[in-house]
Amino acid sequence: MIDTSSQPRVLIFDTTLRDGEQSPGATMTHEEKLEIAGLLDEMGVDIIEAGFPIASEGDFAAVSEIARNARNSTICGLARANYKDIDRCWEAVKHAKSPRIHTFIGTSPLHRAIPGLDMDQMAERIHDTVSHARNLCDNVQWSPMDATRTEADYLCRVVEIAIKAGATTINIPDTVGYTYPMESAQIIRMLLERVPGADSIVFATHCHNDLGMATANALAAVEAGARQIECTINGLGERAGNTALEEVVMALRVRNDILPFRTGIDATRIMHLSRRVSTVSGFVVQPNKAIVGKNAFVHESGIHQDGVLKNAETFEIMKPEHIGLTVKNIAMGKHSGRAALRAKMKEMGYDLAENQLNDAFVRFKALADRKKEVYDDDLVALMKDQETSATHDTLQVKRLRVVCGTEGPREAELTLSIDGVDHTTDATGDGPVDAAFNAVDMLWPHRAELQLYQVHAVTEGTDAQATVSVRIAEDGRIATGSSADTDTVVASVKAYVNALNRLIERRKKSAPGDDVKSVRYSDA
Ligand code: KIV
Ligand code: ZN
Repeated sequence: MIDTSSQPRVLIFDTTLRDGEQSPGATMTHEEKLEIAGLLDEMGVDIIEAGFPIASEGDFAAVSEIARNARNSTICGLARANYKDIDRCWEAVKHAKSPRIHTFIGTSPLHRAIPGLDMDQMAERIHDTVSHARNLCDNVQWSPMDATRTEADYLCRVVEIAIKAGATTINIPDTVGYTYPMESAQIIRMLLERVPGADSIVFATHCHNDLGMATANALAAVEAGARQIECTINGLGERAGNTALEEVVMALRVRNDILPFRTGIDATRIMHLSRRVSTVSGFVVQPNKAIVGKNAFVHESGIHQDGVLKNAETFEIMKPEHIGLTVKNIAMGKHSGRAALRAKMKEMGYDLAENQLNDAFVRFKALADRKKEVYDDDLVALMKDQETSATHDTLQVKRLRVVCGTEGPREAELTLSIDGVDHTTDATGDGPVDAAFNAVDMLWPHRAELQLYQVHAVTEGTDAQATVSVRIAEDGRIATGSSADTDTVVASVKAYVNALNRLIERRKKSAPGDDVKSVRYSDA
């Protein structure tokens, strides 16, 4: 193990709750945001970008409460380049022990054209808004959005203005995921060489993954002198996402021989955070995702299995336990007791209160009756399901019977509790899932359109649980839902109903389209 204590520190800036939450359908509830922020804080994230306070009342409330609760992390809010945004941001983050205002404006030719500012007018706007932010807060981050497509001379000019106006961190966003590692490094090097005062501030790198190079671009920027990486758990984020926190943290650790930098992250918390973010965002992690994918540590081929059994290092560059993945995927069965379940859950990062454990135990026993062996992944799915079926939900699946097969007809009989009252109907469809969804729609008519329906097997075998994810959209509001069950049709209906319950919550909170995703970043 290399002693990294004397190595330069790279700050980890997590924007799962801001840029990550901007992914269509990834909206999290207030409680979920607080929980994720708490976990990021415990994990050692230096700066948490908690939201975009001007975007909605909900975002403001979440950033304020996260700021109040934070123990160690700096809490940052996003603001466009205008006084109203910056003031609102400060109102939210000022409660933190360590607050930060992050203000930005698009500086590339395409972005300058949107507010219709010429180069000089934009330079003036940057000076005024960064000075205003700095008068409110000692810790100010400024970003020239679309920096990687901004003319080099102009980028140097505006970065110098922002530093003179008091910015303490300059973030270089590759907003559209356009750059590549050599260029990402060159931009940081150029700014360090050409901009007066560049050595007195921290340069950050903020990369998007449109060409699959976000992690490589971020690490190249660090080699060139950036000392803050902006990233999200599971690489969540707009379009193809952002640099993944788990990838940069593990790359810096595994290749510390050529990337001699340290972070303050407790990597053993990665897996738990990855699962929680996947659950609350409704974004399933692809099986072959680096570090946190289901297959990231699985060796299928005989040659690999043989090699790993003789010496794990033959085919493994890191150990599962380094990211908090339990080594022993010990199967639990119907004879396992509450104590074993509690211990297993703890090992997997779930610190359950007594009532949560009781609920989990009942569900575990029911699952163990249907499934010979209950694996870690089954327990994760079970926990996920426990959370997505809250007793206060408007809609609850009470009973489902389906008829299907080669002969037809495909029918479903469904009892749904709506605001505590049971309603039953029959419906037909192209298959059992279609028939069951039609039954839901008959009992609770709505205008939402089903945009995505995905089924995954949690483990191997025909008795495996299926996890189902759905995404629906209504008037610009997007809601996701998920559920798991050994019966795919049951999981499908529960996931659909879960999405509808989330839609109901979103209808209560906002007018159509009135949420963070509809705020135009260019309206500065
Ligand atoms: O990608 C981007 O440019 C951003 C900015 C708001 C920093 O997320
Ligand atoms: Zn971004």
